[in-house]
Formats: sequence, structure tokens, C-alpha cells
Amino acid sequence: MKANIKTAIPGPRSIELSKKRSATVANGHGSVSGVFIDKADGSNLIDVDGNVFIDYAGGIGTMNIGHSHPRVLAAIKEQVDKYIHPCFTVAPYELYVTLAERLSELVPISADCKAAFFNSGAESVENAVKISKSFTGRNSILVFSHAFHGRTQMTMSMTYKEDPYKKGFGPFIPNIHRLEFPEIDLDLDRLEIDPKSIACAVIEPVAGEGGFIPASLKAMMQLREFCNEHDIIMVADEVQTGFGRTGSLFAMSQFGVEPDIFTLAKSIAGGLPLSGVVGRAEIMDSVHVGGIGGTFGGNPVACAAALSVLDIMEDEKLPQRAIQIGEKINTMVKGIMNSCPWISGIRGLGAMQGIVIIDKDHEPDKEHTSRIHQYALENGLIMITAGTDGNVIRTLMPLTIRDNELDQSLEILSNALRVP
Ligand SMILES: Cc1ncc(COP(=O)(O)O)c(C=O)c1O
Repeated sequence: MKANIKTAIPGPRSIELSKKRSATVANGHGSVSGVFIDKADGSNLIDVDGNVFIDYAGGIGTMNIGHSHPRVLAAIKEQVDKYIHPCFTVAPYELYVTLAERLSELVPISADCKAAFFNSGAESVENAVKISKSFTGRNSILVFSHAFHGRTQMTMSMTYKEDPYKKGFGPFIPNIHRLEFPEIDLDLDRLEIDPKSIACAVIEPVAGEGGFIPASLKAMMQLREFCNEHDIIMVADEVQTGFGRTGSLFAMSQFGVEPDIFTLAKSIAGGLPLSGVVGRAEIMDSVHVGGIGGTFGGNPVACAAALSVLDIMEDEKLPQRAIQIGEKINTMVKGIMNSCPWISGIRGLGAMQGIVIIDKDHEPDKEHTSRIHQYALENGLIMITAGTDGNVIRTLMPLTIRDNELDQSLEILSNALRVP
């Protein structure tokens, strides 16, 4: 469906709900738009005032297969009719095991793999760290600038950006060491600890919240070599890059090196809360029984949805579609860059593209980025921004977006980017 805006944005019903929200919902949980949603379908969000938007946020990257995909809905409904949550710790069920089997085969690791499931991206990273500590007997963690790994105490400590993610929430977990995100080379000169104390190095192949910055192929190889040399577990945090977004099911297969562990979440289950750690079996098995788990981890309804997501990825060739989408965005942005000196560039992989906005002094321009964002919203395109300086427009649209919707959304985006 094409975007169709009928009211001022936000519309009257959204404004009414915003007032109720202010009175009842904790301030700390922000929302980037004041638009309340009534329905979602494919690439569209339809608000409570009947406005139709094209969704470039995709639930912050959870909706790669699109909203309300009929096959996911059918899988969810079928499972709900059987049972909702016996809890894998109490009474296991086949869906969990089948999903572990399929993901273990699909991740680009040639050794035998095993998996465990949790609820959120943060929990998957947290558990990857626990598993790495258990396997190596070490307690330091290596992370990078611009990293975002979540909001729990551990993952917040691993995250880079201070405001809003860490402000006022210290002290942080010790033994976390940070290097520059390796856009070109891995800069090990700044490492101030003995590499033999590092349990794991956690890297996003494309820094997501940090501004859609791809790591270089060379740096990823250097990191692999460094990990090999010092027996460090290499963890690829593919919470945002996974499930077709970058042009392959997992971004790491484009880097020519195998990590030891993957952390997965967001688009894994078509919008239901599920996350996974998938990695080399000997590492995954190093934790004692009961050492990992959780009440809701690997919920069967979410597992059923996740299995159908994997089928859809393959049948609808969504990783390939991500490449086409990325090319179209690049063509549009490169076509208007000459007349928009505030666009300093576009970067990313596949359909994970970030458009960088700067001011006259070539400094990040968060305010201009917000104006672009607002124009797009008022004209039917819901987007979110990214970047340590908040000056990157990012694309996380459903990969199922139809050609006519993509064309219209690119027209809105192109007009928005021209806003001075
Ligand atoms: C790379 C990465 N890791 C971890 C997380 C945390 O995921 P969640 O918000 O599901 O806890 C995110 C969320 O944006 C992410 O992008």
C-alpha cells in the first residue's frame, strides 16, 4: 500500500493517546514518533487516525519479513492452539530443538554448532559473554567504539554511547576494554591488557546504533587472527545485521572469516521476542547444566514463528532483495548529493544503509537530521536515526517492500533529504 497522509501529524487521536501516555508511561521509555499505531501490514504502518505510512524502521530491524506476514501468522496461530509456554527448562519441546538444528546449520561456521535461546538481543550478548568466560576461564571482554550491545548492566557497559544509554547508570562492569571500531585496520596498539586475559571479542559486522558503519574485510581478518593467536572467542553480534538485512542471511559470510559465536535476535522471529546464541559446539557446551537459561527463553510460539521466518527468507529470496533495495537507495542518494552539501555520504551493506548528515563545518548535524526525519514522517515515511552523534538516517524497511512502495518511499526520502 502507498503512503497516504490524511491529517496533520500526529493526528487528533494520536495526540489524545499521547496525553494518556504521558500520564501513565515512564518518561524514560521514549518514542521517535508521536504516532500511535492501529494496524501494520507488509511495509505499512496505519495509525489510529487512518494515516498510512511506509515503515523504514521495521520495529528497529525486527520486521525483515514484513508486518503480519501470513505464513508467520499461520505458524503462530497453529502453535497457540497447541500450547503457549510449558518452559523449556521444565518440559522441552521439539520446536526449540528444530530451531537450534536449523540455525546451527545456517550460521557460517564450518564446525559443528549448537544453540540456546533467550528473549532479547541484550540477553543473547550477555549469554555469549557468559559462555565465553566459562570456556576460556578468563574474565576480560574486548569491544569497540560505536558499539551497541544492549541495555542490561553487562551489555550497557559494553555499549559505547554515553547519552542516553549509560548516563547516570554507573558504575559499570569492569574488565571491558575498547578499541576503535575497525573501519580500515584493527588498531591493537591501544590495547592495554594482556590478550591472554580476554575471554571474547564482540563485534558488530556493521555497527548498527553506532551509525551503520561497516567493519573492513581486512580488519575482520585481523581480528580473527588476533583471536586465533590468543585463544580468544570471536563473537559476531548479528542482532541487527542478521536475517537477510545486509544481503546474506548473516553478514559475516561476506567477510570471509568465521566467528566462533553468533548472537541473534530482532528479525529472528518475525516480531516476537526471541534471541539466540549459536556457536561452536565445544564452546557452547562448556557451561555447566543450569548455568544458562531463563523462564521465557525459546518460547514455543516465538520458535514456531522463527522457523517460518527461515522458510520465508529462502522462498522469497529476501537476502537477494536486500541487495537490490540497497542499490536503489544508493542510486537515489548519490543522485542528489551534489545539490545537498549536507549529505556527507552513504554507507552500509545491502539494505542496511546509513545516510550521514553534516553541517557547514563538516561536523555531525543532529538538528538537520531531525528536520529531515520530521519532514519524512509528515509525508508518510517513518524512519529512525542512528549514530553516536545522532546524524545518520538509517534504513531498516521490511525486505518484502513492494517496488511501488519502495519507489514512493524513496521519493519521500529524496524530498526529505533536500530539506535545508
Ligand atoms: C547489534 C545489537 N546488539 C544488541 C542489541 C540489543 O538488542 P535488544 O534491544 O533486543 O536487547 C541491539 C539492539 O539494537 C543491537 O543492534
